Amino acid sequence: MDRIEAAKEHFGKLIEEQFARIEKMKEEKDFIDFDTLDKVIIGVVGGDGIGPFITAQAQRVLEFLLEDEIKAEKVELRTIDGLTIENRAAQNKAIPDDVLEELKKCHIILKGPTTTPRAGDPWPNIESANVAMRKELDLFANVRPVKVPEQGIDWMFYRENTEGAYALGSKGIHVNDDLAVDFTVTTKEGSHRIIKSAFEYAKKSGKNKVTVITKANVVKTTDGKFLDVAKEIAKDYPGVEWDDWYIDIMTAKLIDEKRRTDFKVMVLPNLYGDILTDEAAEFQGGVGTAGSANIGKRYSMFEAIHGSAPRMVSEGRGNYADPSSIIRAAVMLLEHMGKQDKADALAKALDICGLTEKKLVVTGRTDGASSEEYADYIMETLKNL
Ligand code: IPM
Ligand code: MG
Repeated sequence: MDRIEAAKEHFGKLIEEQFARIEKMKEEKDFIDFDTLDKVIIGVVGGDGIGPFITAQAQRVLEFLLEDEIKAEKVELRTIDGLTIENRAAQNKAIPDDVLEELKKCHIILKGPTTTPRAGDPWPNIESANVAMRKELDLFANVRPVKVPEQGIDWMFYRENTEGAYALGSKGIHVNDDLAVDFTVTTKEGSHRIIKSAFEYAKKSGKNKVTVITKANVVKTTDGKFLDVAKEIAKDYPGVEWDDWYIDIMTAKLIDEKRRTDFKVMVLPNLYGDILTDEAAEFQGGVGTAGSANIGKRYSMFEAIHGSAPRMVSEGRGNYADPSSIIRAAVMLLEHMGKQDKADALAKALDICGLTEKKLVVTGRTDGASSEEYADYIMETLKNL
């Protein structure tokens, strides 16, 4: 077939898929209410590399904090195997079907890092398991807090998680050897739900300030749409101050000590959110210290935002990996479940262990504490709070 015709046909299919997505979003129900459930099922997914080592420790800490609920069969922690790069490569799927089926039986997922194959790797070029899970479970809000109290930094990022350059990131086309085209998608429904979540959070938390970040002066259609939706939503929140910034200057302003403390809640499309949250996490000690929540109406998933560090495992240091980031994700998990007291206690224990007391330090090498020793330290600290 003629190359242009083939490209047109491909494009047509993508539009049809997006229309179907929009219809689903229109039918979406409200957020799940955990109080109405007999039992909350938390699926624990180890992932690759250091993932199983650190996730096991986060699971121990959760089991410790939720002991009563687990005994009363109000909460179940369930291990879900098979989301490993070996199994995904063998099945040539970002998430193997049987794993996805198990994930869908849970309400909440705690996930270790998974390997994302890229060109030149020994693995087939399958889609990232993260990106696939966000899409499959419709986890549209990627919520990432960054705090550096002594510098007055208290940021909350609402990154759109299912659209933008990521929606069709694995569906671009090589029209011919010279021409490669990718697609980026913004929908009214998809923008609405993430921007509204950010405004709601700004209102409820009393932060009362939202910054909308785009590049709408250049990426006029999709980012323009995102900004237009934001303008409409802002009208419903007269008590929440808002402004809009372009991503380039925003990246600069985060390192401007005089201005950066003005930002409170930031909402932005997927790819900009990916980049800006890594920059932001660096102020707090790097991506290894940050947790991330992926929230949808039905499902939610909590993860560390660092990678799987395969070299640590091949060098036999897997059990010396720092579990702090995934345990930070567990704090957000508890908050999402409505267990605010336990979440606060765990956050406090993490601060004592990692920032103030530092009786044990994880270095990633055998001269530091092991992941298990560090989790024990956190639980001891919790007992003494
Ligand atoms: C993140 C990660 C992922 C992303 C990768 C692993 C696909 O960088 O969670 O920020 O780009 O979203
Ligand atoms: Mg990232």
